[in-house]
Amino acid sequence: MSEAVRSELAPPGLAGVAVAETSIGDVRGEEGFYHYRGYDATRLAGTCSFEQVWHLLLRGSLPDAEELRHFRAEAVEARLLPDGVAEILERTARLPGYSPLEALRTAVSVSAAALRLRPTLDLRDEQVRADALRMAALTPVLLTRLHRAHQGRPAIDPDPDLGYAAAYLQMLSGERPDPRQARALEKYLILVMDHGFNASTFTARVITSTGSDMGSALTGAIGALAGPLHGGAPSRALDTLDAIGTPERAEAYLRDEILAGRRLMGFGHRIYKTDDPRSVLLHQVAREIGGEQADFAEHVEATALRVLNELKPGRRLYTNVEFYSGVVMNTVGLDRDMFTPTFACSRTVGWTAAIVEQAANNRLIRPTAVYVGPEAPRPLPDGYAYM
Ligand code: ACO
Repeated sequence: MSEAVRSELAPPGLAGVAVAETSIGDVRGEEGFYHYRGYDATRLAGTCSFEQVWHLLLRGSLPDAEELRHFRAEAVEARLLPDGVAEILERTARLPGYSPLEALRTAVSVSAAALRLRPTLDLRDEQVRADALRMAALTPVLLTRLHRAHQGRPAIDPDPDLGYAAAYLQMLSGERPDPRQARALEKYLILVMDHGFNASTFTARVITSTGSDMGSALTGAIGALAGPLHGGAPSRALDTLDAIGTPERAEAYLRDEILAGRRLMGFGHRIYKTDDPRSVLLHQVAREIGGEQADFAEHVEATALRVLNELKPGRRLYTNVEFYSGVVMNTVGLDRDMFTPTFACSRTVGWTAAIVEQAANNRLIRPTAVYVGPEAPRPLPDGYAYM
């Protein structure tokens, strides 16, 4: 690339380029801190229910008891499956090469069509907010139905007496979950609801900036999350624990991985150059419910940090969100292929908040590129004609 072109371009990946104003939240990597509307997200996860934080992101404030009662009732009503969608879910779940995240992307798109969601350009703010609540409440219903249908099991409707996290487990298993497990999952879900201006959030905003509907923006966001560089694979850290097997094998295994040039799953982060605050809380949650697997994970973590410090000095590699997420999700009974789709359900709250914000103060996002092809205009080759 020529110097002239480089000087005109934004940095690769738009790193460090601010492209919007937001009051939803922010990540401060150097401090190991991130927040939702100014509140420390880990404090929210430790203190609040999913619905309280959902209200904060979507409506802009922490609800009082009366507001929360209304919001909970609205959210329960919004779980209702749109007409005609149940059959399509059954068929999607039987597609060859079924993958839960792709199936969820399809289900979100189909549901938005069935609900006839209209272009945000044609809607008032409160109508965009209503679509946001509807889609975020519906997503876990779609995913759990798909999962059960794929396993050949009958669908289970959400129990209206249960909150988001407990209903999620109940829709998967058919039973009321252990409250400690539901609370552990709830903390995880709150921790991953939003995380700054990441690729899928940006995608949702770009689509919304065209005036398109909420379904298109969410489908695009799930597509962005599906990429390995973004949604990652929270199951990989758990696979590593399985591969190590026993505590005494940890050191040799981890050393061999690094010396072979491979990365330890669940360590390192582009933004956090100190403890990832999500990992700190998930570690606590894993200790509360994880039993032997949590003890083993702690041993592997301590060994990995020591080995990384020795073999990769000065790189500032710490435990990231994926390391204990796997232990927590595994302990509450989720299958590994459901880890990333479960994350997507919770992140739908963050995406919809971003869509609402974009729609309320919109300008078409339409950047430019520096053309570096052959000099234009160029003549067509002699005699070149319609064929
Ligand atoms: N294990 C071993 N070495 C590592 C690791 C790791 N997990 N992460 C980074 N390094 C090393 C690199 O090898 C490199 O070493 P070098 O200087 O000898 O070449 C150095 O640290 C810097 O690495 P970068 O690639 O520049 O770090 P970057 O910020 O681009 O990567 C990433 C961040 C992708 C998360 C990386 O740390 C990684 O691959 N981790 C493992 C996978 C993982 O856990 N992903 C989930 C991340 S959490 C999330 O994104 C939601």
